[in-house]
Amino acid sequence: MSKPKVWVSRPFFPDIVDRLRDHFDVRAEDEERPYAPEEIAERLADADAAIVGLADRIDATVLAQAPRLRFVANLGVGYNNLDIDALTEAGVGASNTPDVLNETVADYAWALMLAAARRVGEAERWLRDGQWKGARFEGWLGADVHGKTIGILGMGRIGQAIARRASGFRSPVIYHNRSRLDAAIERECGATYVDKATLLARADHLVLVLPYTPANRHSIGEAELKAMKPTATLTNIARGGIVDDAALARALAEGTIAAAALDVFEGEPQVCPALLGLSNIVLSPHIASASRDTRRDMAALAVDNVLAAFGHGPHAGRPPTILNPGVLADAS
Ligand code: GLV
Repeated sequence: MSKPKVWVSRPFFPDIVDRLRDHFDVRAEDEERPYAPEEIAERLADADAAIVGLADRIDATVLAQAPRLRFVANLGVGYNNLDIDALTEAGVGASNTPDVLNETVADYAWALMLAAARRVGEAERWLRDGQWKGARFEGWLGADVHGKTIGILGMGRIGQAIARRASGFRSPVIYHNRSRLDAAIERECGATYVDKATLLARADHLVLVLPYTPANRHSIGEAELKAMKPTATLTNIARGGIVDDAALARALAEGTIAAAALDVFEGEPQVCPALLGLSNIVLSPHIASASRDTRRDMAALAVDNVLAAFGHGPHAGRPPTILNPGVLADAS
């Protein structure tokens, strides 16, 4: 009997991909690039499963051309590239990679926040440019992070990991979230719930950790930036589109806020050109979860989900991080 086919849309850790080979005929791409919807549909035409990245959109149009597909594993915790309703409707299970990346992403949020506040990128570019001719006692003055109020918009597990780190900096944490956390979690994170207007007005360093939904698009735009302190920084490690990048560029140019750091961009890998010309912003190419250990853990979790969906491995029949478990119940 021929093995089911799995499409792996980008190259990653061969030893982890190899775990699929006993049970699947693996079609793994050897270059990492965005795939057009027609290319995805062509690759899924005879696939039973897929492991996809955040740039691969799986929607009703693609699914209509993938009659055999039973499971899609997303290499990321955010899954706004997957139309979960359409997948569920088509009887296709889907998984993401929650939890394994929380601490790594929280580390990176602090790295970006600190870099924006203390002007690390700007100073490094100046040094590399050969401009360091002598000490500048009053040069490169940035903002402190220790002791300053950290604001977190979106307080899921990554937000909580960011908050827990603040105690070492003796920084109070305020947060806003769709729903308030249990008192015990608030205590453990040392975080105080506030409404969004208070968050914007009081935060010295605001970090965005919201999931992307159409309702969250441009949650931070011109009005919200104007509501922040002129000395504040803004860090987005969530999703492009949560910030109105053009409004942010104007705010940074006009001194509405002091600095920003973005790991994600609306329409990435394109970056709003107005941001590229600014010095008071740190830009990185969507790498918040990119530590060696965590990317391996994410890959392993995606593979475990696919194996489990087809009855293999330690979680046989129960993909550990399935997003639409009803699909499996319906299939049994
Ligand atoms: C990265 O952005 C992820 O969602 O894992």
